[in-house]
Formats: sequence, structure tokens, C-alpha cells
Amino acid sequence: MGALERIDHDKRVVCGGMGVDISGWKLAGEVARLGGVGTISATGQGDVLARRLTQLRRDPDNHELQLVKDSLETFPNPSMVDRVLDKYHEHVSSEDTGERRYRPTQQPRIGALEAEMLQVLGTYVQADLAKRRAGGRGLVAVNTLGKIPRMVAPSAIGAILAGADVFVQGAGVPDQVPQLLTDLTVTGGGRYRMDVAGLPDVYQEYSMERYNLNGVPVARPEAWGIVSRTDVAKRLAQVGIEALVIESAQAGGHNAPTSGPEAPLAEYLEFGLPCIVAGGVAQKGLSAIQAEGGEAIQIGSLFALSNESGMDPMLRARTLRGIINQKQPLQVRQDEHISPTGFPFQVAEVAGTVSQAEVLQERSRVCDLAFLTQGYKKKDGSIGYRCPAEPIEQFERKIASPILARNIGERACLCNNLFAAAGLAQRRGEYEEPALVTLGSTVEADVMAVARAYKLPITAAKVFEFVRR
Ligand SMILES: Cc1cc2nc3c(=O)[nH]c(=O)nc-3n(C[C@H](O)[C@H](O)[C@H](O)COP(=O)(O)O)c2cc1C
Repeated sequence: MGALERIDHDKRVVCGGMGVDISGWKLAGEVARLGGVGTISATGQGDVLARRLTQLRRDPDNHELQLVKDSLETFPNPSMVDRVLDKYHEHVSSEDTGERRYRPTQQPRIGALEAEMLQVLGTYVQADLAKRRAGGRGLVAVNTLGKIPRMVAPSAIGAILAGADVFVQGAGVPDQVPQLLTDLTVTGGGRYRMDVAGLPDVYQEYSMERYNLNGVPVARPEAWGIVSRTDVAKRLAQVGIEALVIESAQAGGHNAPTSGPEAPLAEYLEFGLPCIVAGGVAQKGLSAIQAEGGEAIQIGSLFALSNESGMDPMLRARTLRGIINQKQPLQVRQDEHISPTGFPFQVAEVAGTVSQAEVLQERSRVCDLAFLTQGYKKKDGSIGYRCPAEPIEQFERKIASPILARNIGERACLCNNLFAAAGLAQRRGEYEEPALVTLGSTVEADVMAVARAYKLPITAAKVFEFVRR
């Protein structure tokens, strides 16, 4: 039986994976508790865990901290947990952090074990807490991005250990995911191809044993792929992807680069896989999509603006006020240049965020989180890492082709700016990293419709009901 068949036909609403920590355990767990599919975004979850542990260290009675600690206690390699608690929670002093608010973590390079371990733990905690909140109802999924290849397998290991039902990948072609999940759960070891420019076949090996000390039996999550083109969907159907999330260019976050008109749902249905339709479908609703042959719908922006979302509450309130401002409603633009990935990115024009050119230009370029850095072959044959949002001269030294340097002045540091949107901004001296908000292009009409039906504030339960009308 496919994962979606385990939930009621009229509750097949998926909360999309939204990074960084916008769809965390509270939101994903709530949507699953309502009977739908709650997706936690695994992106950056290692650093989210480290920063939350640091943020909450002066507040030992904090309820969320207690829950995180309860979850960590169930992780099957306690010495890893002790190391993380020691480094980011118990013994953090200003000597460690220097001028910064948060202690740096190991950069996620190929073979960087500490970064891998932190990502496994962070994903585990999120998926585990989402499952606890769901109380056995609905499904819990874990979302990763193909553009961050060094984090895919560690996120999968965390998801498997927590017993997630689904593992879903977008931003790239997730053709390695079905095999990876099978290998990790059947043989306990797997490998994943890294995306290294100039070196096509660099694989990193992974082992479950390092994490699952007692060899607790694990189950394989279902593998879903996010697609925007039928040729990619066809390829995924051939490699064992078990459901397709079909995302239109109206969706929040990254979009696939446009290449002609979007194919209708009917063309995807021919591959014989359950289809989940995403991007601007909140008002159309679940039953209309099911009448066309779709299995489920995926909603992002409305959930991102709900009380359960991980978006910083002040930033969320400011964004919502902008949206409902009848005189001058907040705009969402599809920005071709702001993301270092080179993919178009939906930018909500919220005051004080890097959506504004002056806020972006004021920021000194620092590349310290480095999730989106791309591996490349250096002149001496070794592997280097680069990102068009790092300091410009530093990046230019690393590239041979001027094409890569095009528009680099307009690239934002999605890593730091999205951490800031989750209330986890790094501070360097007096300067605090500004946020960036992404939302889908139909968000204004979606919010107004929910507000008319139920009044504000938006909650996950209201969104869940609204889209099932
Ligand atoms: C704040 C936000 C962050 C997002 N981040 C991701 C992400 O990290 N990975 C991903 O696959 N999709 C991401 N998305 C896309 C959503 O998962 C979802 O497919 C999309 O938003 C659906 O369209 P809607 O916003 O019109 O409902 C994001 C969307 C939003 C609004």
C-alpha cells in the first residue's frame, strides 16, 4: 500500500517542505495530527539544532528545550548527543562565539564527519518531534534539496532513524533517492554522488552503523520526487520514485527555470504514479484536483504564515500586515538572480529584508554556513568550494568562465538570510544578518480568502479545512 493510501482520501493535504525551519516539527506535526502529510524541511537542520540549543541555554525550563532534549535522549548513539550538547549548549562562552552570537559549525564539505553527524541529529529531532505531535495520525515526510548534495544522505539517515514515512527531494533530479533509501535500510550502507564541477564521479559513502549503535530495525520511507517537467517525471518513474509532487512556477521558494508552457496534470498521470499538485492550488482545493485525477495537493505559503510556522513571529506578523494592506499590498516577485543556485526564487518584498537592494548591498559578504557552495575541481586537482554569494573577488578567483560571474552582485546569501527568517540570525559585532522571505505568487488572494472564511490569525487547522472545502 502506498503511503498516501494510508490516510483518508479527503485529508490528502501535504504541507510542503519549507526551509530553513519554516516547516519545522510544530507545523509538520500539526498537519499530520490533523490527518494530512506534514513535511519537515531538513535543510540546515544540523545548524538549526546547534543554534536553538545555544539560544535556549539560559532558559532551562523552556518547554521546547525540554522536548528537544527528550527527543535527543532517544537517539541511538548517545555519545554523539553528548558531544553536541556539550559544544552548543552546556559549554558555550563568549570566548567560543567571539563577536558572533552563535558558535560556528563545521562546514559541510565532502567527508566532513562532524557536519554530517549534526545534520543526522538535527533531522532526527525534527522528524521525531513531528511524529510525537502527530500522535500516530497522518504522515510525516522529510524534504531535502538536490542542490545541497552533501546533506541528502545525512538527512535520509536522520529521517529513517526517526521513522519518517516519506523522503522527498526537489531542486534537481532526485534520481538517486530511491536506491539510497533502499541501500541504507537494507544493507545499512549507501552512497551518494556529489555535484562537483569538473569531476563527474565523486561518491560519498555512508553507514547507518555509526548512528544506529544497537542495530534497531528500521523501515524504508517512501521516495517522492518534486518535478516541474514531464521528461524528469518520466526518468524518475523509471528509477523507482513512488509519487510525484508536481510544482508549478507559482509555488514559493525556488522554481525550476522556465522552458515553455507547463504540462497539464494529465500528462504526468500517464506515468502511473500518484500525483500531488503544488503551487497556487489553495483556492482550487483538494476535491477539484482529485476530480482531475490528482491524489493530493501540496500547500506552502498559507502554512508558512500560520501560527505553527517556524518563521520568526515578528517577521511573520509584518509580512501578513503587508499582505492584507489594501492600499499597497505586498508584492512577490520572481527573482532570477537573487539565489546563488541560479534557479529563479520567489521573493516577498518585505521591508528590512534583502528583498530591498539597499539592505542587500549593505551586507558584507561572508560565507560561513556554506550549504549552497558548489564543489569544483581546482587547478591542482583537489576539490574546492565556491558560491556566487561569497565575497566577489574570492569567488572570481575560483572560476575560469566569466559566465559564472554574471549578476553576482545581485546574489543574496540564502543560507544566512533564511536562518534569519527563522529567528536564528547570526550576529557579527553590531551587525545582524537580515532576513529573506519567500512566498508563492498567489499568496495575497489565498490569505484574503482564508481571512474571509475564518478571520485572522491563520492557523494550520484553518488552512487544512480551507483547502479541503
Ligand atoms: C517559505 C517557503 C519556503 C519553501 N522552501 C522550500 C524548500 O526548502 N524545499 C522545497 O522543496 N520547497 C520549498 N517551498 C515550496 C513549498 O514546499 C510548496 O511546494 C509551495 O509553496 C506550494 O505553493 P503555494 O505556496 O502556492 O502553496 C517553499 C515555499 C515557501 C512558501
